[in-house]
Amino acid sequence: MAAGESYTALKFSGPDGLPAEYKDLLVRMLSIQSRIESEYMLAPERTLMKPLAMAPTAEDKAEYAAFWSDEVRHASYWMKLLEDLGVHVDDAFMATPMPIYIFEMRDRAEDWIEYGLFSFFADRQGAYMGYEWVGCSYEPLARIADRVHKEELGHAAFGYKLLRRNLQRDPEHGREKLIHYLKKWYPAGLDMFGKSGSKRQHEFMRWGLRRRTNEQMREEFEEEVNALLDRLEVPIPDATAGRRFL
Ligand SMILES: [Fe+2]
Ligand SMILES: [Fe+2]
Repeated sequence: MAAGESYTALKFSGPDGLPAEYKDLLVRMLSIQSRIESEYMLAPERTLMKPLAMAPTAEDKAEYAAFWSDEVRHASYWMKLLEDLGVHVDDAFMATPMPIYIFEMRDRAEDWIEYGLFSFFADRQGAYMGYEWVGCSYEPLARIADRVHKEELGHAAFGYKLLRRNLQRDPEHGREKLIHYLKKWYPAGLDMFGKSGSKRQHEFMRWGLRRRTNEQMREEFEEEVNALLDRLEVPIPDATAGRRFL
């Protein structure tokens, strides 16, 4: 779908006069995104300094820094959208639990490959969410969604590139390591889309804030990810092993 094209007849031009149910869903959705992405702006010791120190080459470091800078700008988008809705991204907001557990796995990364896997999975999910917002009913969100979607696609491609580069750099142990780390990142990747039977997803769709169900998104995601893992010539992990949300 091209920029500006809409999949819903509902349109809300700004924060004033929103139906209570709609505002609640919008704040909920933006809060998840903001809780996740504000870490780039507010916790640079974890999201910038640590990975920069771990990145093995100047090229990896430069690409990571560019990726991080996009994310800091994304954080500023969600902060502004939430501020307009009366929600402040402050210390108390950032003390709430991380809504998607893969984002905590990033901070526990022991190997540069794990940063590749993080972007390969989590930024790809960011792209899927960005696509949900292209043409959505909240116009201030729809206006930035196309750019966010494209940038997240770029981040996911960066993740793939890191994985491929790592295999080239370390032909002997790279594949073995990737297979080892995939065991935990693959289920976390599929879990990002939440439970297939969740009730709220249909409310988001009814209000024009999302177009696809959790299950539809997860299936498309799985197919895309599997094709890329095929290209890297690593075996596809069992889609049900180690999963927390089915
Ligand atoms: Fe982002
Ligand atoms: Fe991203």
